[in-house]
Amino acid sequence: ERSSNVQTRPPVVTIMGHVDHGKTSLLDKIRETKVATGEAGGITQHIGAYHVKTDRGVITFLDTPGHAAFSAMRSRGAQATDIVVLVVAADDGMMPQTVEAIDHARAAGTPIIVAINKMDKPGADPDRVLNELTAKEVVSEEWGGDTPMARISAKTGEGIDDLLEFISLQAELMELEAPLDGAAQGVVIESRLEKGRGPVVSVLVKKGTLKQGDLVLAGEHYGKVRALTDENGQRVKTAGPSIPVEILGLPETPAAGSEFLVVTDEKKAREVADFRTNRERERQLERQNAMRLESMFDQMAQGDVSFLNIVLKTDVRGSLEALLAALNELSTDEVKVRVISSGVGPISESDVTLAESSEAVLLGFNVRADATARRKADAANMDIRYYSVIYGLIDDVKSAMSGMLA
Ligand code: GTP
Ligand code: MG
Ligand code: NA
Repeated sequence: ERSSNVQTRPPVVTIMGHVDHGKTSLLDKIRETKVATGEAGGITQHIGAYHVKTDRGVITFLDTPGHAAFSAMRSRGAQATDIVVLVVAADDGMMPQTVEAIDHARAAGTPIIVAINKMDKPGADPDRVLNELTAKEVVSEEWGGDTPMARISAKTGEGIDDLLEFISLQAELMELEAPLDGAAQGVVIESRLEKGRGPVVSVLVKKGTLKQGDLVLAGEHYGKVRALTDENGQRVKTAGPSIPVEILGLPETPAAGSEFLVVTDEKKAREVADFRTNRERERQLERQNAMRLESMFDQMAQGDVSFLNIVLKTDVRGSLEALLAALNELSTDEVKVRVISSGVGPISESDVTLAESSEAVLLGFNVRADATARRKADAANMDIRYYSVIYGLIDDVKSAMSGMLA
């Protein structure tokens, strides 16, 4: 028998698809906002979480990046969700990250609804999209399969009502429920360090209700919730199941994808946090040792390997992870990329000191250096490079690498 406080909860829907197929534009149209036009490089570089009230009830949406570098974010997006909406541009058809999204959804066991977007464009060819998807065993209901497909335009709004209807029907079928009362539990969507506010942790509540004043354990960190704000920065007092909310009050930024839960016993929270911190430190040491050994072997084997040392700071944990993965793939036999230190937040004096002593290049992604760090870098005649799009940073590291060979 179910406990009496179990209630129907809103569906969590993750929007996935190839870069520039119109995921953010679709959400903008649904929310009547303009997120997409303000994005650096015209690409999404972190997961956004929004909830909207429709005629058929509340729906929570997670927007994911389509750029190839953000695979881990997409995988997380597919895992945190009830339904995947796969956006495919009708003029472009199935592309590599369309296929990747299908794979993530399947791996997570999440039902797919397809939105064939950009139907307003002259080159739109929805039948081609249906054919291509059929080859990947995503078969439209129109063709006897079990995947609902809506033909839409995020520009004109055509077909979006159909899409929302498909989402609601699917959600009803799934009979999504969660306990409304009791200690909240959920997942960290993203976390960042904000000037004046400190760590801001965006979470999705899965069960229970999160309240101001709750003691929260998230990944390796715990703290008392000082304030809750919704995705528009408005203060809220509570957040129930399926609702995304931002938490202020944690001492540091937990990794995106971490579980969070509300605990009552502060001593227990500290114990678990300490245990996890130590384990994370050990892992870090192991990674550093492995890196050292690897470069030693490289030098012994070839004698003429060069190293490009990097100190990297980013705005959010998710992009840090994406950049580390991308940098990791750049190493060649001649030049190895070594990230000496990395983290979330502005570039600080200690970052400059570290970069100076290890002859590393200092890179900021969507963050700047603070005043002391800038003075110190100036005095040392050190260059700090700033980026706002992931491939800008990667391209520069690549040219630095080829410069080392010249
Ligand atoms: P990433 O997050 O970078 O993967 O891209 P995205 O899938 O969120 O695409 P985005 O919303 O940034 O749109 C990419 C481009 O396509 C923008 O220039 C949009 O204006 C345009 N676009 C999106 N949807 C439509 C549509 O339905 N019709 C037309 N004509 N253009 C669209
Ligand atoms: Mg986008
Ligand atoms: Na885009």
